[in-house]
Amino acid sequence: MKSKAMNEVTLEFPSRSSNEGFARSAAACFAAQMDPTLNELEDIKTAVSEAVTNAIVHAYPDAIGKVTLKLRLCPGNVLELTVKDRGRGIADVEKAREPMFTTGGEERSGMGFTIMESFTDQLTVRSVPGRGTTVTMKKKLAPRLKTK
Ligand SMILES: Nc1ncnc2c1ncn2[C@@H]1O[C@H](COP(=O)(O)OP(=O)(O)OP(=O)(O)O)[C@@H](O)[C@H]1O
Ligand SMILES: [Mg+2]
Repeated sequence: MKSKAMNEVTLEFPSRSSNEGFARSAAACFAAQMDPTLNELEDIKTAVSEAVTNAIVHAYPDAIGKVTLKLRLCPGNVLELTVKDRGRGIADVEKAREPMFTTGGEERSGMGFTIMESFTDQLTVRSVPGRGTTVTMKKKLAPRLKTK
């Protein structure tokens, strides 16, 4: 079940490679309210970067399409990150999630999903060929001691 967000923001941008850096920084800015450690921030930025890069590179290989990044702060200090495209979709999600599987040729290593999985606590990939892909990641941040 979808947990109720205590705060959330939705960003929509075209699948231009310059927006990968924007999405990464936007996720870090949103996460800042949770008082994350530097390590947690790096994990969040890397995971978002991999998901957004996939939308830019694979979802719309020969075109510019819409990418949506949704950031939600959920109970229990959980940050939910969702990257959605309406591009090509993935025929076999299980296969695509395997380490080193790529359809991207030599310049891709096929490690994006593996990185997202290891840098977050939960990764869900929903995809319909020809309709698009939604990647949802959940990251639980360590509770921080409040000094005041
Ligand atoms: N948003 C997407 N739309 C369509 N296909 C996707 C999408 N995301 C991933 N894929 C497919 O899943 C495969 C695996 O993705 P993954 O991110 O693990 O590796 P990669 O992008 O090929 O390489 P790397 O991320 O290491 O540069 C991709 O090669 C592509 O076929
Ligand atoms: Mg990738």
